[in-house]
Amino acid sequence: MGRQTRPPQMIETRLKMSRHVTILNGPNLNLLGVREPEIYGQTTLDDIEAACRETADALGLGLTFHQSNREYELIDWVQAARATSDAIIINPAALTHTSVALLDALKAFEGPVIEVHISNLHKRESFRHHSYVSYRADGIIAGCGPHGYELALHHAARLIGA
Ligand code: DQA
Repeated sequence: MGRQTRPPQMIETRLKMSRHVTILNGPNLNLLGVREPEIYGQTTLDDIEAACRETADALGLGLTFHQSNREYELIDWVQAARATSDAIIINPAALTHTSVALLDALKAFEGPVIEVHISNLHKRESFRHHSYVSYRADGIIAGCGPHGYELALHHAARLIGA
């Protein structure tokens, strides 16, 4: 069957078959590698994205990967993921501890949400022990360093049946 004549329901089935995950990163994570390396290590966000793309390919997942220092932009990407993605993996960074707006956006997303933190929040200052995002997260990975993102991708793949 030619491209032009393929019925819309066939295209829809193909789209549903290839699973897609959105990974979002909050404020200051663009500085990974130079920011407090004793806590966050030497790995840059570009390194993390490259490792995630390799893992996503191996798992047969499509991947969107973003970072922003702006709360509204992260909220817009969570809303966009409602139409494009089967799961969200999010390191909200400092917004973890402050943002009801980000929590509300995530509550409007229907698929699994996995919260990732490079450091172990519970070993750190008490203000980092509370997470608004955790009220919505289906899973939380903290303290596994950058590898946490790859663990989250494996778990997301299992949850969405990829
Ligand atoms: C972080 C932990 C947050 O408390 C902090 O504000 C961050 C990074 C982590 O990945 O360990 O920016 O989310």
